[in-house]
Amino acid sequence: MNVDIHNHILWGLDDGAQSPEETLALARDAVQNGITHVIATPHHMDGKYENPASSIMQRVDEANRLLTEHEVPLTILPGMELHLYGEIVQDFQAAKQTLLTLNHTQSYVLLELPYDHVPAYTERLLFDLQMEGYIPVIAHPERNHAIRERPSTLYRMVERGVLAQITAASVAGKFSDKYQEISRKLIEHNLIHFIASDAHNVTRRGFALKAAYEWIDHKLGQQYTRFFQENACRLISGRDIAAPSPLPFERKKKRKKFLGLF
Ligand SMILES: [Fe+2]
Repeated sequence: MNVDIHNHILWGLDDGAQSPEETLALARDAVQNGITHVIATPHHMDGKYENPASSIMQRVDEANRLLTEHEVPLTILPGMELHLYGEIVQDFQAAKQTLLTLNHTQSYVLLELPYDHVPAYTERLLFDLQMEGYIPVIAHPERNHAIRERPSTLYRMVERGVLAQITAASVAGKFSDKYQEISRKLIEHNLIHFIASDAHNVTRRGFALKAAYEWIDHKLGQQYTRFFQENACRLISGRDIAAPSPLPFERKKKRKKFLGLF
């Protein structure tokens, strides 16, 4: 079993696949990347797309039927990529459930931060979610400007039990050296628990998991690949994730005190 926990394979819900044909093409790309199961994670509450649980569930069924008809050996499971917003905890508590965890697990929630900053209420929100029994999985922290500038922001989250997922294309160097460099740094500080595709289409943003795992095998060692693959399998069945202690970042040396007086 080889699992991808973050992608936009379902058609017509967001900026991912736009038609059943595009879903099929993405599914074939996933299979070529050695993937057997994907958790589909359409955007939700990102200011552009709203995809309540019911529409995602329906599209998952339709997409699985399509894959069976075309004999594509891939299983799609339900999930969503939830953009950070203030009322997430209340919405999880609401009687009419609009939110989805990853594959209906009790705890795993895929959360997307804004690209440019980490909002001041993030820490509190993550804490409140954890108090409700959820385990937040931060999607592609390497793509957040504030985390790139100050990776210790992610360290503080992981230290408190939050998990994080890096995008395969970032690791594989398909975006830029900058993304590959920060990906390596975050992995080496034990801040990353999953690699996932965040695939949107086969032209520019495909699965790239094979290339990512090859790069990891080569640069960091096969034990890292096994760790990430095993974690994705654990996640879909709701088991605990292996999370080694995160390593803090060295502080920049303080400027020498002037004459030792201050
Ligand atoms: Fe995504």
